[in-house]
Amino acid sequence: MAGLLQPARQRQHRAPAPAPGRGHPRAGRDPDHDLPADRQPRAGRGRQRITDLAPDGFHKVFFTNGGADANENAIRMARQFTGRDKVVSTYRSYHGNTGSAVVATGDWRRVPNEYARAHVHVFGPYLYRSEFWATTPEEESERALQHLRRVVEAEGPTSIAAILLETVPGTAGVLMPPPGYLEGVRALADKHGIMLILDEVMAGFGRTGDWFAFDAYDVVPDLITFAKGVNSGYVPVGGVVISDPIAEHFDERVFPGGLTYSGHPLAMASIVASIDTMADEGIVDNAARVGAA
Ligand SMILES: Cc1ncc(COP(=O)(O)O)c(C=O)c1O
Repeated sequence: MAGLLQPARQRQHRAPAPAPGRGHPRAGRDPDHDLPADRQPRAGRGRQRITDLAPDGFHKVFFTNGGADANENAIRMARQFTGRDKVVSTYRSYHGNTGSAVVATGDWRRVPNEYARAHVHVFGPYLYRSEFWATTPEEESERALQHLRRVVEAEGPTSIAAILLETVPGTAGVLMPPPGYLEGVRALADKHGIMLILDEVMAGFGRTGDWFAFDAYDVVPDLITFAKGVNSGYVPVGGVVISDPIAEHFDERVFPGGLTYSGHPLAMASIVASIDTMADEGIVDNAARVGAA
């Protein structure tokens, strides 16, 4: 359990759960109930599988029920860590259906839901329908970065907690970032102490031929959000993979949030089984092969 964020506080939300008691024959069994202790796929083992795949400097995971609340909690972590409010994201994006996530979303679903504050949107790179009159991927990248830079400057860089991007925007149309874009966003975020959150809910865990979609670029985010592919959707689960400096911030401070089912054994068992299967059967390599063909 050592890798979980404030595990005692998360667990206490779970305490009063099922009325018939865990393991009642009519309610089903914990998936790890009958296993020897060293094989119990509880949250620590799920976390280990995920952080083993993440870049150096990621050792903790905050588990959620799905992708929206992964982004919701990542935004909250960035705000708590930086002491700033604003979140910059792109119009061509989907980040989920909860309070901040749906307002961080750029597509039409945001508009009737704009009750969360401090969200700013920019145009991301998309050469096919270029907002920047660009004619090459390089031009699109450079001009989209210049647009982002100007918005950050105009909004006030010290008011911005996070830039939140889908590594590869999915619902908006599978938009591969042009050369240098993600690296440029990383550099801009670093310059201003802004956290970079990469939403890997759709693109992560093998979809692009890498374990994380950002593995194909020279970029490491501060927070990684995931769901769907981590367990092939067998049961609802998601989470935030947290870089060490942000995790350490919460060693000394209570994180203002928790979820009843964070690290639920059934979800954790499905993560361990799915990741092990993907690794054993070379599924990510196969995606890379098929994608390159
Ligand atoms: C990139 C991305 N982020 C977040 C979400 C929201 O995930 P969930 O539906 O599990 O809340 C989705 C869902 O499609 C998504 O594609």
